[in-house]
Amino acid sequence: MTDVAGTIRVERDRSDADKRMNVLGIETSCDETAAAVVSTTGVASRPWIVRANVIASQAGIHREWGGVVPEIASRQHVRDICGVVDRALGDAGTHWRDLDALAVTQGPGLVGALLVGVSFAKAAAAAVGRPIVAVHHLAGHIESIFLEHGAIPLPAVVLVVSGGHTSLYVVPEPGVYRLAGRTRDDAAGEAFDKVARVIGLGYPGGPAIDRVARDGNDGAVDLPRPRFTHADRHPLPVDVRGSDGAPPVADFSFSGLKSAVVRLVQQRGGAEALTRTAVADIAATFQRVVVETLLDRTFEVAHTLGARSIGIAGGVSANSRLRHDATARGQREGVPVFVPPLALSTDNAAMIAAAGLRRLERGESSGLGFNAHASLPIAGEGWPSGAR
Ligand code: KG4
Ligand code: ZN
Repeated sequence: MTDVAGTIRVERDRSDADKRMNVLGIETSCDETAAAVVSTTGVASRPWIVRANVIASQAGIHREWGGVVPEIASRQHVRDICGVVDRALGDAGTHWRDLDALAVTQGPGLVGALLVGVSFAKAAAAAVGRPIVAVHHLAGHIESIFLEHGAIPLPAVVLVVSGGHTSLYVVPEPGVYRLAGRTRDDAAGEAFDKVARVIGLGYPGGPAIDRVARDGNDGAVDLPRPRFTHADRHPLPVDVRGSDGAPPVADFSFSGLKSAVVRLVQQRGGAEALTRTAVADIAATFQRVVVETLLDRTFEVAHTLGARSIGIAGGVSANSRLRHDATARGQREGVPVFVPPLALSTDNAAMIAAAGLRRLERGESSGLGFNAHASLPIAGEGWPSGAR
């Protein structure tokens, strides 16, 4: 079977393996044009460092539309990509000739937006004669944890919680990602964005809810906790099993919670009729329910699978309550929790460079034949062996 990324094995001799590597990462999957330089350190406990991490956010442009407009996003990436890459190389004090490889997000994401990064990276790799690695965006989010914290205890259960995804992965060894659960409907970040719109806060909604919720009472309104009455819809890989041999219940659902907020706001006469206190209370309660739901499931799965640590990554991992409650619960339950710093939580290219380094360290690279893939699975040949 041919791999979507057209993977080829790169033969590297011992002197290559010993050498420090500089990787340029490029990320254009949604509304951030990002470039970063990440280098190897040669230190086993902290093998990678970020030397530059540049992000041109389009949030201000999309705000007036209430969400990301794909065509506008693609055009803005075209405008920004050269300047962002130049800036990253400049910040890192790196020239093109100092780079050992390029890494780029192949998918999933908006196809027109992805195409800008993929075309740019392939052209640059061909021009400077360096290998290119196609990277899965969620692998990037997972690797943001390793980029910051180095070697964390494995196996780990990693929650990737962003605008497009809410998924749990088991990481049994570095670079291997096994899907253990995902949302049946909305992603948590999507729910944050929709609820923010419904209660009259702007786009992007996650940071707005986080801010406003600080002044709210998180028990002021009655919102439902998602409950599952039937088995998980997504068959899990055979090797994701608890000690009793059964797969963990690991799905998420956020659409019911979102609809409950919509109904509540309608009953109260719409967003315009809400007082500042009511907005803060709804935001705080919604945020508490999302955080509890995410953490209950993540800790359950971690305990069932005997994980030695928990990671939380993706844009929603920037949420202050999620970060606080996850760490506190980890201390109570004896499982260390690792979260990337804010700059690596939301979309960035340092995590893409890190995921690229991971593939290079496993002796993998991509030819120039791969293309952007809007719904790229993390599974399949070309992704680290054992990935699903
Ligand atoms: O990972 P990301 O930057 O892009 C995707 O891959 O989707 O995640 C973006 C999502 C958005 O839904 C945004 O509202 C949410 O992350 N987000 C937050 C916070 N900061 C960003 N959600 C809750 N609290 C935050 N502080
Ligand atoms: Zn993301």
